[in-house]
Amino acid sequence: MSNEDTLILAFESSCDETSVAVIKNGQEILSNIVATQIKSHQRFGGVVPEVASRHHIEQITSCIDDSLEQAGVDYTDLSAVAVTYGPGLVGALLVGVTAAKTVAFAHGLPLIPVNHMAGHIYAARYVQPIEFPALALLVSGGHTELVLMNEPGKFEIIGETRDDAAGEAYDKIGRVMGINYPAGKEVDRLAHIGTDTFKFPRAMDKTDDFDFSFSGLKSAFINTVHHADQIGETLSRENLACSFQQAVVDVLADKTKKALQKYPVKQLILAGGVAANKGLRDRLDQEIQEFPNVTFIKAPLPLCGDNAAMIGAEAYVEYQRKNFVGAKLNADPSLEFDWAKGTSA
Ligand code: KG4
Ligand code: ZN
Repeated sequence: MSNEDTLILAFESSCDETSVAVIKNGQEILSNIVATQIKSHQRFGGVVPEVASRHHIEQITSCIDDSLEQAGVDYTDLSAVAVTYGPGLVGALLVGVTAAKTVAFAHGLPLIPVNHMAGHIYAARYVQPIEFPALALLVSGGHTELVLMNEPGKFEIIGETRDDAAGEAYDKIGRVMGINYPAGKEVDRLAHIGTDTFKFPRAMDKTDDFDFSFSGLKSAFINTVHHADQIGETLSRENLACSFQQAVVDVLADKTKKALQKYPVKQLILAGGVAANKGLRDRLDQEIQEFPNVTFIKAPLPLCGDNAAMIGAEAYVEYQRKNFVGAKLNADPSLEFDWAKGTSA
């Protein structure tokens, strides 16, 4: 490790993963410890905030120790500490924020606040450097948005879901199919062996904006399954999954293309938990052919879900901008990017 290297200890605890990472120069993962709580939440069919907070408290110190040990570094080697301070579950966020503040204070290190969604986008940094302007399709369990980035550290929403997030819709229809939370991966797998026979609605596909809506699709799906139950008919799980996924992918791809037509960006970034979706990755691989000047970067599969490595990558940008906070940093559960001006298609 040379003296010029910047080593950031990054924390992520916004939902149901406790994660601590050591990141070198914003681009090299020395360690990325992720302690998942999924098993504890599965029996409830979703994340229970109080249970999440308790798990974070139990896990956080061993995650710090493991992360430093795996990276082969000590607190004295660190340049800064970074933490997700929103959006997310307030009790869960507070555990990471408190831990990060404590380490920063105890070791006299600058503290960098990171927006969780900006972190998701920066998972793409582990594929290649981000060039501006860039557009990100950010799809997770809590968010579905198109984000324009004209310069480092600047994130502007040009469109977002008006109701459910894409991942949330996957989890809700998965529940109706008897699939454990989080259902996205299993629905994706089933979708690849089925056919789009149900032709579910593609909401807002033709509207003059970059917004999405998934609650109508979710209701159509649930009504179809309930109706079949009532008349004693068994529907193909594979075809249901495929029809649902096709509708989601169609609207995500169509609105992303519309945005690429309006904004001449250098890169398109796909990030967030739902970015792991094979159907969506393949579809955007095809669609991007129409835009030869745009490079398509998919967040690496292991970094699509919540993790601290992505937080450390974004924190490096903030480190260079000297965006430091003091001990007053608080969790902001509804932290949002600003909207860009003139966002109609
Ligand atoms: O980003 P993330 O880990 O947590 C949030 O910040 O929300 O995203 C989790 C979401 C869950 O809704 C999960 O079902 C979904 O990502 N997901 C997927 C896939 N893998 C995870 N959705 C569709 N296809 C997948 N392969
Ligand atoms: Zn997330």
